[in-house]
Amino acid sequence: MSEKSLKELNLKLQTLINPSPLQRIRHPLLEQHQVHLSVKRDDLLHGDISGNKWRKLKFNLIEARSSQINHILSFGGAYSNHIHALAAAGFHLGFKTSAVIRGEAAYVSNPTLKQAAAWGMNLQFVTRKEYRQRNESEYLHQLQKQYPDAFIVPEGGSNIFALAGLAEAVQEIQEQSETSVEHIITATGSGGTLAGLISAFKDHKSTTRITGIAVLKNADYLNQSVHSLLQQAAVKSGAPWELKTQFHHGGYAKVSEQLISFCRQFSEQTSIPVEPVYTGKMFYALFQLIKQGYFKKGEHIVALHTGGLQGLNGLKQRGLYPQS
Ligand SMILES: Cc1ncc(COP(=O)(O)O)c(C=O)c1O
Repeated sequence: MSEKSLKELNLKLQTLINPSPLQRIRHPLLEQHQVHLSVKRDDLLHGDISGNKWRKLKFNLIEARSSQINHILSFGGAYSNHIHALAAAGFHLGFKTSAVIRGEAAYVSNPTLKQAAAWGMNLQFVTRKEYRQRNESEYLHQLQKQYPDAFIVPEGGSNIFALAGLAEAVQEIQEQSETSVEHIITATGSGGTLAGLISAFKDHKSTTRITGIAVLKNADYLNQSVHSLLQQAAVKSGAPWELKTQFHHGGYAKVSEQLISFCRQFSEQTSIPVEPVYTGKMFYALFQLIKQGYFKKGEHIVALHTGGLQGLNGLKQRGLYPQS
């Protein structure tokens, strides 16, 4: 029974999601500094389930299905890309989904949660105080009692099962790139994506360096989160990596005029849509680093487009991003 449903899941996965394109970018700044840039377009993985959210969820879903569990529960803020992607994955792949949401029930009318509820997700709103306990074992124990049939995935989907999904993205990059890849760069929130990219290189000496751009303030603690995930997954020697913490623009989901105008200009020049919370901050940082001479002439950088474009609707609704 479990083998049959696992086979069915794998089949559905193959028809639903294909490798995303690796797109070469032309831009005057790249020519001026003689570096090459490609974007791994994970925003195009699927209309509803995209970016690193899909990469992190995939092996969590497979793990749950292998254990004959058909209900996934996770945590998120009211505009969470992860919650949106989990609800979509549940809808398309036949999982029941629940989410513990930080904040008041009134958030249910925002574009992210409205859509999640429409996909059948059960939403449980909790106070900020309660939400802070989301990683504590006693709290998780209670939650498991409340939802005995659920497979609990941490906030952002960042656990050891997430890493294998990012390793698949690296494998695709290596297969798709016509030249060597010296750098892979990603936006970093909880560190799961960064850890996953690093973990892809565990079996051999890597000449690819991984750089994470922290999107929140005072993010040095994320170095420890990444180490800890790598340790839990028994990754002994991943790729060399670095977390850059100076490009937060004031903090998580804080947007400056400068950042917004960068996002709009970047999208106009490259036809690649970005949003200011994650990918906009990453590309902004990448362009700053190129200007500062961080990359050597001739190097090939791959930027991982981690999706998150659904978040633009919420930002627009709150007047934090221009409507058009
Ligand atoms: C669009 C997007 N990019 C990047 C990240 C950061 O990923 P991680 O939390 O794995 O560091 C997130 C949040 O998880 C996200 O939603």
